Amino acid sequence: MSLDVAAIRADFPILSRQVNGRPLVYLDNGASAQKPRQVIEAVTRAYEAEYANVHRGLHFLSNLATDNYEKVRAIIARFLNAPREDEVIFTSGSTEAINLVSYGWAAPRLVAGDEIVLSVLEHHANIVPWHFLRERQGVVLKWVEPEPDGSLPPEKVLAAVGPRTRLIAITHMSNVTGTVVDVGAIARGTQVPVLVDGSQAAVHMPVDLAALGCDFYCITGHKLYGPSGSGAIWIRQDRQAEMRPFMGGGDMIRTVTRDAIDYADPPLRFEAGTPGIVNQIGLGAALEYLMAIGMENIAAHERLLRDHARDRLRALNWLQVQGDAPDKGAIFSLTMQGAHAHDISTILDKRGVAVRAGSHCAMPLMEFYGITASARASFGMYNTTDEVDALVEGLSFCRELFA
Ligand code: ALA
Repeated sequence: MSLDVAAIRADFPILSRQVNGRPLVYLDNGASAQKPRQVIEAVTRAYEAEYANVHRGLHFLSNLATDNYEKVRAIIARFLNAPREDEVIFTSGSTEAINLVSYGWAAPRLVAGDEIVLSVLEHHANIVPWHFLRERQGVVLKWVEPEPDGSLPPEKVLAAVGPRTRLIAITHMSNVTGTVVDVGAIARGTQVPVLVDGSQAAVHMPVDLAALGCDFYCITGHKLYGPSGSGAIWIRQDRQAEMRPFMGGGDMIRTVTRDAIDYADPPLRFEAGTPGIVNQIGLGAALEYLMAIGMENIAAHERLLRDHARDRLRALNWLQVQGDAPDKGAIFSLTMQGAHAHDISTILDKRGVAVRAGSHCAMPLMEFYGITASARASFGMYNTTDEVDALVEGLSFCRELFA
């Protein structure tokens, strides 16, 4: 089924605004996506009429807020086709999720000389928590480079696994090149635990955790058209049992005395303190919205955008595109001889076109491509081929200025 993009766009109030006197062309979805009315209304309703703290009260509003909040766990499980709802742990996003695994699972188990296999495609959320273990515990980071076109064959990742490898931490989709990694083939090809960073992939394609066979999978709500500060990590039950709590505080305990603590069962064990109640309720509304449209339909629409963008950008012989794997997502990292990425972004912005410029929280990948920065156009379900054309016209204008 093709998407009714006009109807989807009508759900996003911000898309009808002007920027610098031009209609907004929002191509910075990789950094954060805009929010549909359904999410904004769910958040407003939660604050206006249904708000109290969760898991703590016996009064009506606390029970209602707890129900609304806990329902999101089931929505996330459905969205990811996770086998069990209690394997879903709420986090503020992927950064907290991966730190939870680093502090809660890896730090107590890994010793000096143990290895973590990472790809050069990772963004910093899936790099820095592992660097902590390198700095503090002597853990070795083994880096796997992509092919020049940005693709990452699973065999290449599996070839890096050795007797001391304790974890593979890998992206499902690069936030810079759009590369889709066959994480299922990686997980099926090894006994080593696999953490998948789904920050980008879950936004653009269906995810089926029952089929993937990984151990940890995280999503981040603000990229999924939900509120910032929302997200989750799915952790298989046997891995949860191996973890110690990361943060301590209320809600993650059963009893506390002066001498001892008895922890709550997972998932609450890993959710200390008052959580992002309303953020997660908004995420639930975002995921319901996506599931009503259908992730397959979204993926098909974005393939059209990708192909149109690829054809038009390839025709510009003065433009370099970093990463051009055939089945990539609709994310394009661009550089132009003689024009800095920040200049490109500023000039595009004057024409209402929003792209991100910089290293995209992925410095090792920038280094791989021999650049320090690029301009990145990242598409979402509400973008159109006309907006691809607006990007290309903006880039051509930029070329004229700098040539
Ligand atoms: N990781 C985010 C991005 O891709 C912030 O821009």
